[in-house]
Amino acid sequence: MTKFNRPALLSLLLLTATGSALVARPVAAPRWNTDEARTIAAWKPRAAPRPDPRIEARIRQILSGMTLEQKIGQMTQPSILSVTPDEVRHYAIGSVLNGGGGWPGGNKHASVADWVKLAKAYEQASLSTDMKIKVPVIWGVDAVHGHNNIYGATTFPQNIGLGATNDPDLVERIGRATARQVRATGIGWAFAPTLAVVQNQRWGRSYEGYSSDPALVSRLGSALVRGLQGKLNGDGDVLASAKHFVGDGGTWRGIDQGENRSGEVTLASLHGAGYYAALDAGAQTVMVSYNSWARDGAQVQGKMHGNRALVTGVLKDRLKFDGLVVSDWNAIEQVTGCERDHCPAAFNAGVDLFMVPDNWKSFIAKAVADVREGRVPMARIDDAVSRILRVKLRMGLLERPTSAGKLTGDTAHLDARALAQEAVRKSAVLFKNDNAVLPLAPGKRILVVGAGADSFPAQSGGWSMTWQGDETDNADYPLGETLLGGLKRVYGADQVAYSADGSLFAAGKYDAVIAVMGERPYAEMKGDVRWPAPLAHSVLYPDQAALLARVAGQGTPVVSVLYSGRATYSTDLINRSDAFVAAFLPGSEAGALADLIAGRQGLDFHGRLPVAWPNTACPSGSEPIGERLFARGFGLSYAHRVATGRLAEAPIVPACP
Ligand code: GLC
Repeated sequence: MTKFNRPALLSLLLLTATGSALVARPVAAPRWNTDEARTIAAWKPRAAPRPDPRIEARIRQILSGMTLEQKIGQMTQPSILSVTPDEVRHYAIGSVLNGGGGWPGGNKHASVADWVKLAKAYEQASLSTDMKIKVPVIWGVDAVHGHNNIYGATTFPQNIGLGATNDPDLVERIGRATARQVRATGIGWAFAPTLAVVQNQRWGRSYEGYSSDPALVSRLGSALVRGLQGKLNGDGDVLASAKHFVGDGGTWRGIDQGENRSGEVTLASLHGAGYYAALDAGAQTVMVSYNSWARDGAQVQGKMHGNRALVTGVLKDRLKFDGLVVSDWNAIEQVTGCERDHCPAAFNAGVDLFMVPDNWKSFIAKAVADVREGRVPMARIDDAVSRILRVKLRMGLLERPTSAGKLTGDTAHLDARALAQEAVRKSAVLFKNDNAVLPLAPGKRILVVGAGADSFPAQSGGWSMTWQGDETDNADYPLGETLLGGLKRVYGADQVAYSADGSLFAAGKYDAVIAVMGERPYAEMKGDVRWPAPLAHSVLYPDQAALLARVAGQGTPVVSVLYSGRATYSTDLINRSDAFVAAFLPGSEAGALADLIAGRQGLDFHGRLPVAWPNTACPSGSEPIGERLFARGFGLSYAHRVATGRLAEAPIVPACP
């Protein structure tokens, strides 16, 4: 049907046919205004999943016995730091979460048994509510590079490093291993993968994205969904979350939670690409993004959590997503007219489960009032609760609550060292290897400099034991290996000297220096490098640049290793190095880099850049050709020797123009 929509045409025909002065039936108001319809039409439609009649019947049965208060309780997700098991019972809470650094009893070294004990307590409470049919609670956690909140768990390279592997099979295996780690602690939901298609490396969450290439994000994001969810109802499966819908990686100047200024086609085809693959892989939850959207930088469409055309019109109607949509941490407060505990606009936009970590009691009260007073239709509530129940029924939660799984309490599943070591070796990208400095042969006398060489926090980055990955030290990582540890393992402790500040260096004393540089750990907005600050490692970390200058150019070959969550201007550092490795954030098994540096058992570099590497300290974002030192896909190897020589350095200005 082209010009007319169907109801209008039928009314017109009816009127004409009868010839009487029948009043034409009012045409149903279109669900979407012209602007919204344009947004929706930019997304290619997706086939609806086939409903399971038994599940749908059970949803109707459970829903019919629920009070409004119980329905709203099921839609509420408090933090474990602000809700007790008895409150979960009393309010019929549907889900809980722990944010980065939220541990049982506030104990950073909480044991698996401590996590399981709390999970069982919440679960038992949810099975003791006054609901006619009990519905177990589901616990969500940011297991975004392994079960990174847990003392003693292996962590994997952050997503930017996995992007460099370009290995969907590896990522799927990482998903399986992560799911087992999470289930061992009695938890059933991982808030991963991040599907951001990162356009600006100033963004503090660049490392949470796999790539600036939507196709690579799609391949790896869907692989992680398959790995995490498996068959969805097995003891080693957890829910995945496709996040953050939509456009988080494309905000203006990379400002976290800022404004995505793409046109609707770019929003759909680039920023939305990963969602098609993730939903096709069966992702059962989608987390909404903090960012806002201003089409082509002009018409402000507001914050995602209030955008009904995108959350409902696109995700639920156009893409036929029938799982649950969860809000981000207190994100509803950013919607115009909303508060941290009150946002009818987010309900009506299509959010189903509300991550209201602290103010959840007043949230429930105000939401009940919104329905009673007509600001939120009961039909919207029933749709939301139906989706939550559908996901819980699909994962078999009512038959086997999460903690009843056979992996629960089994600490052996925390250890995934071999897989993590494989991932580390595949994620490192070789930028330079002049005069074949690498591989470093056994027997060499090596001096290692740089504090990052022996630092689990430096090699892990954000979302590691704590939200920011800071306020931790090596004592918080009982499992794993630093690069220094790996070098001592490979070359022998007596061959490897360590001098964090380089003070042991003397020309001619060593056969090689390995200089490790790295970013301080960060997460989200705390990692933003806000314009006009130059995005240059030696400006952000001048002490590390000075350390490199101290050992460079004195006749001893220098192998530089850079830990970073992003691509930064580093040409000055590369020029002072004979070999240069971009290791991104390798996680708990950074020691595996030593095997690569030694070329043990024929190991070679296979990592290829998942984002372009800049030749300027003031990148404009979106990686234009003129700003690339190395293009996406670049990476050298022992087999592919190329003399790099001296690279043209750009002026490093105190403030970008
Ligand atoms: C954070 C992040 C989101 C995370 C959530 C729960 O603010 O945006 O990725 O899953 O809160 O910790």
